[in-house]
Amino acid sequence: MTDDPEQIAVIPGDGIGREVTAAAREVLEAVGPDFAFAEAEAGDAVKERTGEALPDETRQLAASADATLFGAAGETAADVIIPLRRAVESFANVRPVRAYPGVDAPNPDTDLVFVRENTEGVYAGHESEIAPGVTTLTRVVTESASEEIARYGFEYAAERGLGVTIAHKANVMRTTDGLFLETARRVGEGYDVPTDDALMDALAMHLVQRPEDYDVVVCPNLAGDMLSDLAAGLVGGLGLLPSANVGEERALFEPVHGTAPDIAGEGVANPSAAILSAAMLLEYLGYDDAGQRVRAAVESVLASGPHTPDLGGDATTSDVTEAVLAEL
Ligand code: NAI
Ligand code: MG
Repeated sequence: MTDDPEQIAVIPGDGIGREVTAAAREVLEAVGPDFAFAEAEAGDAVKERTGEALPDETRQLAASADATLFGAAGETAADVIIPLRRAVESFANVRPVRAYPGVDAPNPDTDLVFVRENTEGVYAGHESEIAPGVTTLTRVVTESASEEIARYGFEYAAERGLGVTIAHKANVMRTTDGLFLETARRVGEGYDVPTDDALMDALAMHLVQRPEDYDVVVCPNLAGDMLSDLAAGLVGGLGLLPSANVGEERALFEPVHGTAPDIAGEGVANPSAAILSAAMLLEYLGYDDAGQRVRAAVESVLASGPHTPDLGGDATTSDVTEAVLAEL
């Protein structure tokens, strides 16, 4: 580490991405570490103006910053977020999902973390139309990526005294998920962590019925995407879900939600997911105390209000942000 302040790239994107990222940046500025912020454009608006959803300077900024805070992109989301995840060489998508006191959650016992493989599986991009009306998709699973994601999941669990569930469908996708499961189990043998595995379809049902049975769920790419959104439904919605795209050298933090065109521009988006993503950013950079303080401030505001309309209140984004800043 040098004495230079760490560089944080801020990429607000479109829609409520802009509103919640501004809130998260305010919180980062308030809690202290001396960061150098650099803001850059991505998404529908910049594409409309310049023809490119992800300008090269934005990609390069993310590829060189210590950490990136991203909001959301609209129609161009796939053209923005997938290259940005590559730019930070992210192999793990970490999505904590928990219910908060004070928020009406369909299942208040939910407190788990998805550790999702972030580079391959069916999202590797090998799709073709081999003849008119006939399409194919190649699912890529490698031992090295499976090992890397499993190691991240087991380390995460071991540090926190949690268990690991390996999600897979190795009874059908015998070769690809067979490799994923076998590799993850082998990695798990090196850890003193309670471990089991689950077929991903049955797991979807068990997550709804008994989310309290799960701590860290290590998943292939698509399964992690779907299961984490399902779990979001157990805790009161997308406005609460932060995420991290973690690489070896750098990482990108973003709310799980999108641009919410139905409420964009009204100033009523829930900033909690973006602010909790900023807390993950602080922890990634080693500012554990600051991250904990941010998390505690958000929890306290969720417990006592004010609440934005998605949580049944009538507060604005800035009312909630001000309340979090006041707690800090
Ligand atoms: P969405 O997450 O934007 O919205 C789904 C629903 O949740 C909407 O009713 C919205 O109002 C509500 N919601 C989401 N975040 C909220 C918040 N912070 N506070 C209050 N309510 C919130 O997903 P949707 O509608 O499927 O996609 C909208 C656009 O966002 C699309 O263009 C899509 O491509 C993009 N998108 C981008 C993502 C990214 O950049 N990572 C991820 C998901 C969607
Ligand atoms: Mg998704």
